[in-house]
Amino acid sequence: MKVKFLDLGQQPIANNFLLPEQVDDEFKYHLTVEIDDGTKLVSLGEFVAPEKMFNDTYAYHSSGSKTMQEHFKKTAIALVNNFAPLKVLEIGSNDGVFIKNINSDIAIAVEPCSNFADLTNKMGYKTISEFWTLDLAKEIRSKHGAQDLIYAANCMCHIQNLSEAFAAVNECLSDRGVFVFEDPSLSKMIERCSYDQIYDEHAHIFSVTALNKILASQGLYIFRVEKLNVHGGSNRIFASKRLHKNIEANVDDIMKEEFNMGLEDIRTYNNFATRVEQSRVQLLGLLKEFKRKNFNIVGYGATSKSTTVFNYCGIDSSLIGYITDTTPTKQGKVSPGMHIPVVPREGNLNSVDYAYLGAWNYEAEIAEKESEFLRSGAFITHVPYVRIIR
Ligand code: TMP
Repeated sequence: MKVKFLDLGQQPIANNFLLPEQVDDEFKYHLTVEIDDGTKLVSLGEFVAPEKMFNDTYAYHSSGSKTMQEHFKKTAIALVNNFAPLKVLEIGSNDGVFIKNINSDIAIAVEPCSNFADLTNKMGYKTISEFWTLDLAKEIRSKHGAQDLIYAANCMCHIQNLSEAFAAVNECLSDRGVFVFEDPSLSKMIERCSYDQIYDEHAHIFSVTALNKILASQGLYIFRVEKLNVHGGSNRIFASKRLHKNIEANVDDIMKEEFNMGLEDIRTYNNFATRVEQSRVQLLGLLKEFKRKNFNIVGYGATSKSTTVFNYCGIDSSLIGYITDTTPTKQGKVSPGMHIPVVPREGNLNSVDYAYLGAWNYEAEIAEKESEFLRSGAFITHVPYVRIIR
């Protein structure tokens, strides 16, 4: 049985930045969140058709921050050193930020967004522009053989039918192979009240507890979990086909931690929903107070996460004049749903008093490069509670 615990209202596609002339018939859906009381998997109540989100105009570039470029380079080197794979497959390769660190002779990629698949094909990485399905896994296995390392970052949680997705991994993985994937962590989201992790693309927000059950049902077994700081707190899961690796002690420790913080108890989720509502009231209250005092407020980072916040809280361009973002394909467009203009960073923070930090997960990187702005201005964030960063 599924139990609904959060309602974030009508929402647009979080990454669908629009040209001003496209705003009239924007698609919206009802964003709710529920927990399956059997598997304990947390998922959206209503899924959006994948083709509406992942297509040839997909705007999010994984290479868009120094933090993520360094993260993926370090990850690729460590995985190759650790597992010495002869064949590597990446599911959801985006703009190649991970795979470019692997020798192209041993690597292939799957990426449904054709703008990115074209890019990595040009970089010399064979990229199949399709969604990850059991049929595709069978085709890859018969054409390219079983894979020793299958890697996916911020991708498995996008896939609505997880049983099929993990069965497809099992199909394609060699007997000695390792499946490594990382996605935002449910416990971190609850701890930090970062409800903006919830949007159309994140069909599920994973706990290790739920993954352990669902992977095992598809013949995959977790043997290591690493906690990561990226994307506001993520888990990197290592799984293999058989229980032939030693299961590291921290797998059990993390599941115990999740149990102790109440991730199997509906009251934890109801309490989270109350904190989300309080966060909305406080953020709106602060922005309105600053507006009354005639402060100039903008957004910093036109993130998918900020789409959830702005649409849930009803924050439009009367409160946040514009959003700066470094991604060229977002600039000159307006934000999904609330239609706040997106502009380049250059020259757009000069007379700003407060900037709402949509990209709060890069706070350290941004605070370092924006020290000049921080002399006179400040950032606003809602994570882990509504506050000012000076
Ligand atoms: P993400 O949180 O989904 O990774 O998206 C980050 C967005 O923030 C992306 O559109 C790029 C933008 N951004 C900036 O505009 N300035 C920055 O300094 C950083 C790190 C990101």
